[in-house]
Amino acid sequence: MQNNVLILDFGSQYTQLIARRVRELNIYCEIKPYNNPPEDLSSYKAVILSGSPHSVRGEDAPHPDLSQIKGQKPLLGVCYGAQYLAHFYDGEVGQSNTREYGRANLSMVKEGELFFEGVSQGSQVWMSHSDTIKKLPRDGVRIASTNDVENAGYRIEGEDTYAIQFHPEVYHSSDGKQILENFLVKIAGVAQTWTPDAFVDTTVAQLKKQLGDDRVILGLSGGVDSTVAATLLHKAIGDNLYCIFVNNGLLRKNEFSEVLLQYEGMGLNVKGVDASARFLEALEGESDPETKRKAIGRVFIEVFDDESKEVENAKWLGQGTIYPDVIESVSATGGPSATIKSHHNVGGLPDFMKLKVVEPLKMLFKDEVRRVGKSMGLSPSLLGRHPFPGPGLAIRILGDITPEKVRILQEVDHIFISGLREWGLYDKVWQAGAMLLPVNSVGVMGDERTYEKCVALRAVESTDGMTADWVNLPYEFLQKVSNDIINKVKGVNRVVYDISSKPPATIEWE
Ligand code: XMP
Repeated sequence: MQNNVLILDFGSQYTQLIARRVRELNIYCEIKPYNNPPEDLSSYKAVILSGSPHSVRGEDAPHPDLSQIKGQKPLLGVCYGAQYLAHFYDGEVGQSNTREYGRANLSMVKEGELFFEGVSQGSQVWMSHSDTIKKLPRDGVRIASTNDVENAGYRIEGEDTYAIQFHPEVYHSSDGKQILENFLVKIAGVAQTWTPDAFVDTTVAQLKKQLGDDRVILGLSGGVDSTVAATLLHKAIGDNLYCIFVNNGLLRKNEFSEVLLQYEGMGLNVKGVDASARFLEALEGESDPETKRKAIGRVFIEVFDDESKEVENAKWLGQGTIYPDVIESVSATGGPSATIKSHHNVGGLPDFMKLKVVEPLKMLFKDEVRRVGKSMGLSPSLLGRHPFPGPGLAIRILGDITPEKVRILQEVDHIFISGLREWGLYDKVWQAGAMLLPVNSVGVMGDERTYEKCVALRAVESTDGMTADWVNLPYEFLQKVSNDIINKVKGVNRVVYDISSKPPATIEWE
């Protein structure tokens, strides 16, 4: 890959954000742990050193060899990266008198520096450090200060080496993206060619070369990632891609048949497998959430294995893995935190797991997957679909699962989700769904006393599902949906709306 940027990770919570900002500039970049850098650096046109929870003066502080990088390639040190360059190249880093966290303003920006072109005096920057650079490294020239931090930015004379104490990658650094662009484009000369179209072209060409006439099996879930991965693979190898779409009986109402039709309409070679009965049988009498999850996982593997055996001579397993799942980040305690799974007991694995794995999206963030899907013409309704958990409605039916409970919840969920669409609210919500509670309560319908189920509706805003807040849906909407549910879904006489944030609650109830 030409025009590639390397981000060496020292374990900062912001490292992924650096990659996000660089990608937003249409520049490709990769994050690698400082203690496991790439052997061949020739494809990288610039290097960024991330921040870190460590102090450079600490005994176990990251201490990588930069001899192939510093002075050889354009180099930007951020926070710890800036301190590292000072500490190990004849400068001095010491504890600052005040701990510096949060907002600050640049009080001095050196005139005429390409690095700060378009950045105003007084620009807001974000600090997060307790050490400070007391003396610049050899040949260092100060290029920025704040009121509290004299050496907030410097460069090394005679090299394309720059360093800043603040974090340009966070949104609170108002000119941060401009600074990254100045460094990468104006100073390092990296071309801004990383676009969804370019990604599709190069990936399809690579997949063709990698896969040749081999057959690939891929499990479609109805979600964005597996669909975009399948579309890319299909562009590369056509009907040698065998897609399997399993109905576990716990999908939304009509989802299996509708999504299957959509896949067929896209020209994918897809087989729909209705294994509902097998899943429901395995779940019978189980009420513990983790046991339910495990049973579903186990049956899925069995079904997928049976189906994959039908595809003779398959060599590869296609997967919709995305970048946040694979980044080998560095933990605060030192070593790379990602553990690489070792399959010692290969003989005991299902057959499909012995296949080689092909993951065309593994360098993309979620929103990039959507942009790539859009550039390949996938429908907005498919790309904008809310996340849906693998175990499906099984973790939204509290307690044990019966076909009747699945039917009730599918109906309730359908009224809620169609209502969100009709009221133009669907795209304003990150995820929504209904929970069937193990609670019966008294109601009155006509002259009759009822004793029926209660359902909870949940709609949240989030960016990644890690934290979430409930959505302030209009009362009129909730009123209409509640009425429709109670009138139309037999077995339900009470509807509540969940107003808990995550944390402390979770999005799903199980
Ligand atoms: P929680 O409930 O942990 O959910 O706040 C966060 C996000 O993860 C989804 N989720 C799951 N997805 N298998 C999945 O594939 C699961 O077992 C599972 N549990 C939760 C949930 O829907 C939300 O998007």
